[in-house]
Amino acid sequence: MDSLVAGRYYLKSRWGRGANARVYLGWDSLLDRLVAIKVPRAHTERANRTLKREGRLVSGLSHPGVIAMLDHGQLPDGRLYLVFEFVAGTSLDAVVRTGSINVSSVVDFGICLATTLEYVHSCAIVHRDVKPGNVLIPGSGSALQWQRAKLIDFATARRIDDVLADGRPVATPTCIAGTPAYAAPEQLLGRPLSIAADLYALGATLFELLYGVPPFSAESFGVATLEPDAVAHERGYSEASSLAPLPLMLVGPLIVAKLSKEVVPPEGDIPDDLRDLVRLLLRIEPKERPTSARAVIEALRRIAAKLGSTTSGQPPTHVAREPVSLDEIETRDE
Ligand SMILES: Nc1ncnc2c1ncn2[C@@H]1O[C@H](COP(=O)(O)OP(=O)(O)OP(=O)(O)O)[C@@H](O)[C@H]1O
Ligand SMILES: [Mg+2]
Repeated sequence: MDSLVAGRYYLKSRWGRGANARVYLGWDSLLDRLVAIKVPRAHTERANRTLKREGRLVSGLSHPGVIAMLDHGQLPDGRLYLVFEFVAGTSLDAVVRTGSINVSSVVDFGICLATTLEYVHSCAIVHRDVKPGNVLIPGSGSALQWQRAKLIDFATARRIDDVLADGRPVATPTCIAGTPAYAAPEQLLGRPLSIAADLYALGATLFELLYGVPPFSAESFGVATLEPDAVAHERGYSEASSLAPLPLMLVGPLIVAKLSKEVVPPEGDIPDDLRDLVRLLLRIEPKERPTSARAVIEALRRIAAKLGSTTSGQPPTHVAREPVSLDEIETRDE
């Protein structure tokens, strides 16, 4: 593989894959740097529209904790693509699988992700798909740079377009989307979403970092994704429209479980105040969760201080890096 896109980007290998998109490791021959190029898997208008919406949302964001979009374009086959900064590191779900995260790192990371969410929410956006698979951590092995974590994948993000009577901003979903194991109960029900939905997903992510599994494992309910296009793709249909009600049917038992059982994080070596915070983030009722990402940051900072954590408690910062060359990247073919 070495095809040239837009006379500028060499596609070096397939790098990552999610529900709807494929991500290629690319080389930007104009600026001599690695890039990540996201292309929809399906050749459909709907897939292009989703990617365009993601591009519009993410290109308006500028924060060290949010992946930077650099460029966009259209392939000869009609599919749109987005070009992102390349993060030489590991996705957080791969880190979870190694089972080697200590409590201090979880707290440091929590401060970082909550700071990023505070920024995203301040831009009137709900991400709607916060989960370990959508966070990249630069570095590798024991040299992971938790405080430089990047939130990716704004494919299901929505603009907050309304305000409830009590002042909480809400986004009205156009369809039920997200990842069932991490999505808030109200998101699975297709109700208007406040930022509390992202805080629930932050809670589910922290739970998984602490205990190795999310609080409700979607696989045990037989469903891993709610993206209609992905379900259609898996089943050999070209468009989701032919099976529109299916994702909701599949996810029914998971919704019932999430709506009927408050999560109680198990006791163990985890400090009580951290368990309490995770429990509050995962409350069924959005109003009972912390009111903002700021409140979560403050709670985590208090926990960090007690742990004597090395975290500076500072938001993620841009660090000027030595450019990573292609030779330093272990190629993979996802
Ligand atoms: N900028 C990047 N640098 C390095 N790797 C990346 C980058 N962006 C994505 N990846 C890899 O590609 C995978 C899929 O990316 P992403 O989550 O954006 O796609 P997706 O889940 O298919 O999105 P969608 O929800 O639109 O279907 C990620 O989990 C990650 O491993
Ligand atoms: Mg993803």
